[in-house]
Amino acid sequence: MYFSTSFLISLSAALVTVNGALTRVTNFGNNPTNLQMNINVPAKLAPKPAIILALHGCFGSGEAYALQTTYNTLSEQIGFITIFPSSKRDSNCWEVNTAKGLSRNAGGDNQGLVSMVNYTIAKYSADAARVFVTGSSSGCMMTNVLMATYPDVFAAATCYSGVPAGCLAGSPGASPISADPKCANGLNIKSQAEWVSIAKAMYSGYSGKYPKLATWHGTADTLVKLPNLGEQLKQWSGVQGLGFARNETNIPEAGYTKIVYGDGSKLIGYEARGVGHTVPVHEEDDLVWFGI
Ligand SMILES: *[C@@H]1O[C@H](CO)[C@@H](O)[C@H](O)[C@H]1NC(C)=O
Ligand SMILES: *[C@@H]1O[C@H](CO)[C@@H](O)[C@H](O)[C@H]1NC(C)=O
Repeated sequence: MYFSTSFLISLSAALVTVNGALTRVTNFGNNPTNLQMNINVPAKLAPKPAIILALHGCFGSGEAYALQTTYNTLSEQIGFITIFPSSKRDSNCWEVNTAKGLSRNAGGDNQGLVSMVNYTIAKYSADAARVFVTGSSSGCMMTNVLMATYPDVFAAATCYSGVPAGCLAGSPGASPISADPKCANGLNIKSQAEWVSIAKAMYSGYSGKYPKLATWHGTADTLVKLPNLGEQLKQWSGVQGLGFARNETNIPEAGYTKIVYGDGSKLIGYEARGVGHTVPVHEEDDLVWFGI
């Protein structure tokens, strides 16, 4: 039996290189909103590798976020896998506003993102207990949504310049152009009990652990305003049952304040004085927080 080279290539067509570092993956499972999956698998993959799902902001792409961040360089040293998905709708923002997008297995972007994680765990024998999520701006909003809708999938999260899970609920869109501006303007202020019930309703009946979170925000952010840091901390400290412990100034660098909840192992805020939208990604701090 003779197989032509092109036939063999088409057999492995699920993997197509899109740039030096990323590979496009198709047929990764249930993908109700037609997201693109891009993956970086380092040359020296660690045994039972960890996975980071890294989410771009509006107007972004997975390819661009890979270039803007150093996860791929760090993964060559450490051996974890990074997934850089792309949203192609609503100015490439993530679906953090619709009822289905704020539910579990209901046909939202979040479901497609978890399919990518599931595919990666199976394909690379990755460690299902070390799956992490991070993102900037809209990617930080989706990070909060994934924590609420799939708390069993993600062990830890970090994110930059976002909003609490459910802040954009009911908004006609999730982009600076399409959204109800109330949330981004920092005017969606709720009690802790309200934020907790909003997060918990996204996976009702769940009584397991929620991911730990380190969330960063700049005081000079005019696009997604600073009250959204306080509202995220209100939400997740309530979900985790943690109280504010202390502030540490000039950590991890001058002008940043580390806001510590409980013993500091489950929830941290970083307020970056004079920093706008978005706070620069602190990849090495992310890895420390993830424990990889
Ligand atoms: C991902 O895998 C988990 C565990 O096998 C499963 O419960 C879940 O339904 C899967 N999710 C998706 C979106 O495929
Ligand atoms: C801790 O820091 C945050 C951010 O600067 C601030 O809003 C809060 O008032 C501080 N809390 C205390 C007790 O100093």
